[in-house]
Amino acid sequence: MLRVAVFVSGRGSNLQAVLNSPKLKNLVVVDSVISDKKNCKAFQIAADNSVACFSLGNDKESISYSGLADFLKSRNIDLIVLAGFLKLIPDSVIKEFKNKIINIHPALLPAFGGKGMFGMNVHKAVLNSSVKESGATVHLVDETYDTGQIIAQRKIDISDLNSAEAIAEHVLKIEHELLPFVIEKFATNKILVKNNKVDVLQ
Ligand code: GAR
Repeated sequence: MLRVAVFVSGRGSNLQAVLNSPKLKNLVVVDSVISDKKNCKAFQIAADNSVACFSLGNDKESISYSGLADFLKSRNIDLIVLAGFLKLIPDSVIKEFKNKIINIHPALLPAFGGKGMFGMNVHKAVLNSSVKESGATVHLVDETYDTGQIIAQRKIDISDLNSAEAIAEHVLKIEHELLPFVIEKFATNKILVKNNKVDVLQ
């Protein structure tokens, strides 16, 4: 079983999709859910599914950013999944878990990524740019926002959609398919990273 830690900051619908995914049932165990926001909705989803929750921060009850790599090692985490986590992952964790951290982004990277490009900001920028397609991207995480190698993308036609909310709704549906798809590929050793290029085997 692949041991996964899911990082969240808010609603947790991607976390829910991972927990509900029938294809991940016998391949993956979600060991822990970690958040920089103590009262996020995602914590409730974790608790409802008997998954341990941990907050990340500078207060006494939280895991510190400097202690995060050791914490994850102590729980034997194989894969870190950022599912709506809005903070940068510390360099110490990136080093320790090289090519073992993935992020889901609600647009077709490398467009509409970078600092400040999260949630509705992304969909508003997409709408204002008049592009005809949007989608979701899962990529490896490196030291900066949204710049790691792309693992997989799904596209949708948005030419008939007139609001950022409508784009968000349609993109979220494909996020909920794409993220479990990529995690399954990790769990079955079908993600190969060579010379900074990612191959996804059938
Ligand atoms: C998702 O749309 C995810 O792609 C996005 O935040 C949302 C979280 O929703 N992430 C980013 O924008 C990262 N740059 P969720 O909490 O319901 O999964």
